[in-house]
Amino acid sequence: MQPAYEIPQFSVSDKPAQDLDVDLLVVPVVQDDRAAMQIFDEATGGELSMAHERGAFTGKPCELWFTQAGDRWRTRPLVMIGVGPQSELNVERVRRMAACAGMSARQQRRGRLAFCLPASWTNESWIEAIAEGATFANFDNGNYKSRNEGRYFISSVLVNGVAGEALGAALERGRRIGEATNAARVLVNEPGNSLPPRELAARASALAAVPHITSEILDEKQIETLGMGLLLGVARGSAEPPRVLVLRYEPPGAPASPVLGLVGKGITFDTGGLSIKPADGMERMKDDMAGGATVVAALRAIALEQVPLRVIAVVPCTENMPGGRATRPGDILRGASGLTVEVNNTDAEGRLILGDGLWYARQLGATHLIDVATLTGAVIVALGKTTTGLFATEGWGEVIRDAANRCGEKIWPLPIFDEYKEQLKSDIADMVNSPGRPAGSITAALFLKEFTGGLPWAHLDIAGTAWADEAHAWAPKGATGAMVRTLIEVARTAGTGWPVSK
Ligand code: BES
Ligand code: MN
Ligand code: ZN
Repeated sequence: MQPAYEIPQFSVSDKPAQDLDVDLLVVPVVQDDRAAMQIFDEATGGELSMAHERGAFTGKPCELWFTQAGDRWRTRPLVMIGVGPQSELNVERVRRMAACAGMSARQQRRGRLAFCLPASWTNESWIEAIAEGATFANFDNGNYKSRNEGRYFISSVLVNGVAGEALGAALERGRRIGEATNAARVLVNEPGNSLPPRELAARASALAAVPHITSEILDEKQIETLGMGLLLGVARGSAEPPRVLVLRYEPPGAPASPVLGLVGKGITFDTGGLSIKPADGMERMKDDMAGGATVVAALRAIALEQVPLRVIAVVPCTENMPGGRATRPGDILRGASGLTVEVNNTDAEGRLILGDGLWYARQLGATHLIDVATLTGAVIVALGKTTTGLFATEGWGEVIRDAANRCGEKIWPLPIFDEYKEQLKSDIADMVNSPGRPAGSITAALFLKEFTGGLPWAHLDIAGTAWADEAHAWAPKGATGAMVRTLIEVARTAGTGWPVSK
C-alpha cells in the first residue's frame, strides 16, 4: 500500500527571495496591506497591482493567483495567496493559507516550496502554523487505490523573509504536530475491516512508541478482571475481542501532580448493535474511533515536545455489532465503577465504553480528565460540522476553551445543568444509557460525568468535526484530526491556571 502522507523537510532561509532555488514561491497577500508586498509587485512587473485593480485577485482567504517572477529571479513560478484583511489575521488563517498553498503545489507537481513572508510575521505560533498547514496538505487518502493516479507530495518547505532565533524550533513543533495529526487521520480513514479493535490498539500503541511513554494493551481477560462490564457489554455482539490501550507519559522531573487523563472513544465500527442504524451513511461509522486516535496522536506530540507534565491516555477499543450474543435492548450492565446501566438503546454505546474508560483513568491516578468522542448525532444538530461541543466542570472548561482559541480550533460550551439528569433515570437500574431526544448531547455528557468521581472533567463531542463530508481548498474529505492541537495546547499549560482537584 502507498503511504497516505509524507513529511516535508523544513528550514528557514535568510537569502533574498530572488536567489531562492525552489519549484514555487508562495507569497501570502494581506488584503489591505499591499505595501508590504511591493517587491513581489515589482518582481511580476506590476501584475499584483493590476490584478488588484481589475478585481481579478483581491486577497480573500485562500484565493490564488499564479504568475511568474521576472527573469532575474532564480525561481520564476510564483503564487500569490490571499489571507484576508489585516484585522482578521490569526493563526488559523495562516495555517489554512499554508495548507491551501501546499495542496495547489501538489496539484502542480511542484515539490520544493518557499513561503516568502512579510517581515512582520515573526510570531512563533504563526511559523508553527505554516509547518502544520504544509504537513496537513501533504496528505492523500487515496492510499488504497491500486494505481498511482498522480499522487504527488511536497518534499521541502523554506520559510523566507522573516528572522528570529526561535523560528527553526517553531517549524519543528509544527512539523511534529502535523505528523501526529496525519497519523491520526490515517487511522480514522481506515475501514472497519482493516482496523478491528486489536489492530487499533496495536497501531495506536506503535504511534505512541516514543521516549518516556509506556504502553500496555489489556485483553478481554484483563478487562473482565477489572470488571469493565460496560465495555464488555458493547463488545459481546462482535466476533472481535475488545482491548483497552493504556499509555503513560512520565517525563523525568515532572511533578507527581497534576496528572492529565485523556480518554478516547475507540469504536472501530458502530453498526448501532441490535438497535441497528439505517443503511444510509452507516459506512461513515468507521470513524467512531476518532476520539481514541486523537488522544493518542496528541500524546505522541506532547511526549516528543517533552512537555513537563504527566499524562495518562486510556482508549477502550471495540466494535458495536449485532451478533448472536449481542447485548439486547433492556439488558442491564454493571460497569467497573459499580454503577448499573439499563441499555435501552444499544446504539448509545460510546458512553458505555467511556464510562469504564473514565473510571480506569481515575484509578490510574488522573487528577484532571478530558474525554474525546464522536458521541452524538445531536451535537451536529446543535453546532454543525465546524464546531466541537464542550461539556465541562467549572474552571476546567475555560482552560480547554482558551487553549482551543489560541490554536484556532472551534469549540463551544453547552450546559450540563443537574436538571437534565432527570432524563437519565431508570426504573430498574442506576441509569438508562439513552435518555431520549431532547438535549441529546447534554444528557450523554451527564451520563459520562457520573464516572468522573468529581474530578475536573471536560468532554469534547467531535461527532460533527472529526469528519469532513466535503473537500475544502485547505483539506481533503474525510478525517480532519480535530482537537489534536487543542489537547497539545492544554498540556503545554502544564498545570498553570488549572482548577484544583480533590
Ligand atoms: N457514533 C454515534 C454518534 C454519531 C452520529 C457520530 C452521527 C457521528 C455522526 C453514537 O454512537 C450514536 O449512535 N449515538 C446515538 C445516541 C442515541 C442512541 C442516544 C445518536 O446520536 O443517535
Ligand atoms: Mn452508536
Ligand atoms: Zn458510536
